[in-house]
Amino acid sequence: MGQRIGIALIGLGTVGSGVVQILEDAVGRDMRLQSVDLVGVAVRDLSKPRTVQVKADLLTEDAFALIEKPEVSIVIEVMGGIEKPYALIRRALELGKHVVTANKALLARHGQELFALAKAHRVQIRYEAAVCGGIPVLQPLQQCFGANRVTSAIGIVNGTTNYILTQMAERSLAYSEALAEAQSLGYAEADPRADVDGNDAQEKIAILSSIAFRLPLPELDKIYREGISAIALGDVRYAQQLGFAIKVLAFAVRQQDGRIDLRVHPTLVPLEHPLSRVDGAFNAVVIEADPVGQIMFYGSGAGSGPTASAVVSDVINICAELAYPVQPVVVEAMDFPGYLPIEEIRTRFYIRLKALDLPGVIGHFGRIFGDHGVSLESIVQKNPHGDAAELVIITHNVQESQMRSALTEIREGTYLKEFCTAIRVLPEG
Ligand code: NAP
Ligand code: HSE
Repeated sequence: MGQRIGIALIGLGTVGSGVVQILEDAVGRDMRLQSVDLVGVAVRDLSKPRTVQVKADLLTEDAFALIEKPEVSIVIEVMGGIEKPYALIRRALELGKHVVTANKALLARHGQELFALAKAHRVQIRYEAAVCGGIPVLQPLQQCFGANRVTSAIGIVNGTTNYILTQMAERSLAYSEALAEAQSLGYAEADPRADVDGNDAQEKIAILSSIAFRLPLPELDKIYREGISAIALGDVRYAQQLGFAIKVLAFAVRQQDGRIDLRVHPTLVPLEHPLSRVDGAFNAVVIEADPVGQIMFYGSGAGSGPTASAVVSDVINICAELAYPVQPVVVEAMDFPGYLPIEEIRTRFYIRLKALDLPGVIGHFGRIFGDHGVSLESIVQKNPHGDAAELVIITHNVQESQMRSALTEIREGTYLKEFCTAIRVLPEG
């Protein structure tokens, strides 16, 4: 019998339960799982009913006492939040324990410091599940792209918003009903505003970009973020009629001058683009790299089993390295010129607004766009009703700052009844 590896599991919710299910049913999986022992499981409330069976003497409300146990070698943090898991992970690393976490909110804020602490204590911190749930994307980027220069990583990295937008498109479900379904299926964060406001995707693209470009984690305020709350069923339908699906995309794109464009926002994706067909809680990331070209990662981005798959695979990889240590991947800031402000990006736009239905109105809006250097690809009047109608506009590529100044003049001017939506359109450039 080889060395036994003791695990402390912190959290027994959606992800933690999936982890227990895999650990309790090791047959047919990697052999190293059979040398893993669950030493204890920390939860917030011992009296809560559980969906998985865990021996009562393994459960505790004292996570700090659990990680101190000498037989614990690996701490799995799947409790969520920031302050408590930060303190716990710090303590675990100081104690010389390896850490596996799915917590992107924590890593995007304190990752750099925790990575340094892990290095100082010669232990590992692994976090494959933090980005795109069950899709192996971080480790392949670290280990299989070494010969490449990554130029972009663009993808759907939040399962909840993708689930909501898919249900709106396919079942005409109201936004609130679709969100409730995503919550009951275990996709959403404890506070689902993190999903629908784009914070979760912002944290994930921060982590993904740092690995793709071999840079320290960017500050979150360098990443432009827009959520889905302004998107109406009408926008989803018009987008379909125009040949697009609406998706929340996260962008990490290296510019010619070396700066990196990081942002998250709803985007009209042409139906012929593979990302337009990534539906439900699925995620996908398209990586462009030189010389390999385009590679797409696709799979389940959230939920119990898929996320636990990534967590337990990290545990197995630690077990493997304990037997055969390899050199850690070092993330360095080279001669890096900084991040591209959102005002400088160039993209097409979809605009929907309600305007007075009078002669000269289309010319009025066309002139404003023209004055700001915004060239229009199409403008269609929809849904005339009383003295008003909707205008659905697609522009050519335009600099974001020009579009913003045009929209300011439109919002302040005559003929506008209601400004509805402005959504960026792929492809850009
Ligand atoms: P969850 O269902 O809300 O589960 C959280 C678990 O942590 C619960 O078992 C809770 O205990 C426990 N917990 C909370 N505070 C605690 C404390 N102070 N001490 C000990 N235990 C505590 O959350 P989840 O969906 O599994 O997500 C966990 C983490 O994984 C989050 O960081 C999330 O962002 C990340 N993640 C989730 C998914 C997903 O699809 N759900 C995917 C990727 C990453 P009780 O059960 O007693 O309340
Ligand atoms: N709430 C997250 C999502 C979980 O919906 O993608 C996976 O990280």
